[in-house]
Amino acid sequence: MPKKAADTAASVAVNIAIEQHFPRDERLLDDGLAGRIIPLGMKVFVWLLGFAWLREWMIQWTEKCWPGVWAIFPVRKRYIDAKVTEATHLDALVNLGAGLDTLAFRLPAVAKGPVFEVDQPGNIELKRSKLNQALGEIPEQLRFVSVDFDAQELGSALASHGYSSDMKTFFVLEAVTQYLTMAGIQTVFDFLAKAQSGSRLVFTYVRKDFVEGRAFYDNEDLYKTLVLKDKVWLFGLNPEEVADFLDEYGWRILEHLGYDELADVYVKPTGRQLKSLALERIVYAEKL
Ligand SMILES: C[S@@+](CC[C@H](N)C(=O)[O-])C[C@H]1O[C@@H](n2cnc3c(N)ncnc32)[C@H](O)[C@@H]1O
Repeated sequence: MPKKAADTAASVAVNIAIEQHFPRDERLLDDGLAGRIIPLGMKVFVWLLGFAWLREWMIQWTEKCWPGVWAIFPVRKRYIDAKVTEATHLDALVNLGAGLDTLAFRLPAVAKGPVFEVDQPGNIELKRSKLNQALGEIPEQLRFVSVDFDAQELGSALASHGYSSDMKTFFVLEAVTQYLTMAGIQTVFDFLAKAQSGSRLVFTYVRKDFVEGRAFYDNEDLYKTLVLKDKVWLFGLNPEEVADFLDEYGWRILEHLGYDELADVYVKPTGRQLKSLALERIVYAEKL
């Protein structure tokens, strides 16, 4: 996997850390941990953005260069938090491509059961060491699993850390599918096909016409950077294909939303004016 794809994990955590400077009624996500587990240079950057005028300038600049990108990180986490909180019947949580995400720490319900965080080895080591520095220890229920989805098998790696496909599981695949080769997508969804009936999945995907350069959704610069130059966004889906795609692996859609719909729930009440990203969508599904 290109190193740049791994680095995106820290960028997400930086966005969440900056959100913590907003007063609670304007903040898109509460997360006191994200800012403590990012690399030092990023901590300095986040600290500087404690100056409201500088933060506003930076967010407006982001909105101009990549319209809608700012809000996707916190709002999709809010959505995932809500779905995980509702799914009280599940035995385990598996966060695939977890990066520096703090889901395991944000929700008291999650803290009770086993949580498996899967990512490529460099990010697993980064997370382990940053959590150790921030907390002094890794909570017992949190298990780290190093796997490169593009090159390695997933089921046996998880099993060697105590995961069993008998566990009714909440799977999270947040901002990951676009980085995978077809082999990686196959590995992840072949594994998900063996999940226990009643398991749940939230995943995000980028539209196929964007990845193929046929539509830009106001974000041609993003296409030029992530698809053409860095070559890290590889995979996309057409929204109308998602139901059939999931059906092949034994999953059915419960909800399939765009960021406009998430913004109505999570951005509008804050009174903040942020654009919505149309090139990515989020799916909540159930294993049949
Ligand atoms: C944009 S980050 C998202 C991180 C996290 N899910 C979140 O939303 O906060 C993408 C994550 O996918 C992981 N990833 C990308 N390709 C991968 C692969 N082939 N195998 C395992 N993880 C991969 C990266 O290492 C990174 O942590």
